[in-house]
Amino acid sequence: MKKTDIRLLPLGAKLGQDIFTSGGLLLLSKGKILDAALVRKLVSQGIIDVYLEHLEPGMLDESSQFMDKDESELREVINYSRAVVGEVLDQVRSGRPIEYDVLEDATDVIYSEVVNTNNIFRQLIALRDKDEYTLQHSVAVGALGVKICQLLNWPESKAKHVGVAGILHDIGKAQISDSIINKPGSLSEIEWAEMKRHSQYGYEILKNDCSVDPQVQMAVLQHHERINGKGYPLRLRDRQIHPYAKIIAIADTFDAITSDRSYQKPMSVFSAADELLKDAYRGGLEVETILIFVDYLLDMAPGEKVVLNTGEEAEIHLLNRNEPNRPLVRTSEGFVDLVRNREICIASFANDNEKLSYQR
Ligand SMILES: [Fe+2]
Ligand SMILES: [Fe+2]
Repeated sequence: MKKTDIRLLPLGAKLGQDIFTSGGLLLLSKGKILDAALVRKLVSQGIIDVYLEHLEPGMLDESSQFMDKDESELREVINYSRAVVGEVLDQVRSGRPIEYDVLEDATDVIYSEVVNTNNIFRQLIALRDKDEYTLQHSVAVGALGVKICQLLNWPESKAKHVGVAGILHDIGKAQISDSIINKPGSLSEIEWAEMKRHSQYGYEILKNDCSVDPQVQMAVLQHHERINGKGYPLRLRDRQIHPYAKIIAIADTFDAITSDRSYQKPMSVFSAADELLKDAYRGGLEVETILIFVDYLLDMAPGEKVVLNTGEEAEIHLLNRNEPNRPLVRTSEGFVDLVRNREICIASFANDNEKLSYQR
């Protein structure tokens, strides 16, 4: 086993030994597959080389894959995808068949961009266009759906199905009147009942189109179902819900609660993580997947500096597997267990210069 310079690590390399912080805490365990986020974590801890389990000849040539993707490339992909989704919505509104080939091409582009981009959610937030919520939301749910599949190690074919389902999940809203869709403030009971029909409408639009995979159709129909049976339209439970629909439900919820809408302020990524975990522990969303997703969203390491909602700076001391947004932290006053002190939470990363730290 040979030590390898961290800047030359190839995508997908496996750690050959456990890695510890200078304080002796386990940072990453042997066998962990490295991606760009983990490499950054190591760099932030001052680790410059690591032992790898297995290194194929030629893998080092691909080291450039660890570089963050240029934001302008992602912007192009999002603009292109938004245009495609806009076309699809027009096709549905005017009763024309959906050009599925074009939609699949857009999903292929989204897929390859998402699997090679770190912190895809931050970039999606940064590139949001307030005036085009539906288009933006559809692309974001497709992209986040693909990212969740990648985190779950699902094969490319399934991830692309989830990408298409994410793009199409709210297609049924094309059949709901603009006065309801764009209404500022809360909806009346009748309006809300009509709004909730969008998943059924979406399914009906797609069900006779044999170019749309039946599993994608099912995900569109079921994306508001919840594991505890409290969703809609059919109040299905756990195994009755298609796995694609469970992924879309998570991506959809995350994008919705972090969005700036006329009737709601956006949540910070930390508050959003809290909401997702609460939803999972209440039985709505799948706990295992939420834990993996939240871990990815927060991407914290021992030693990392954060700012608490009290304004105090703190350092992550011990990660928390069950509630990744509530680690044990150390402030100038001493240790604070965020599980026991639930009124205190993390507001932002100390070096986070993106505007993600506001609280709802
Ligand atoms: Fe929806
Ligand atoms: Fe949605």
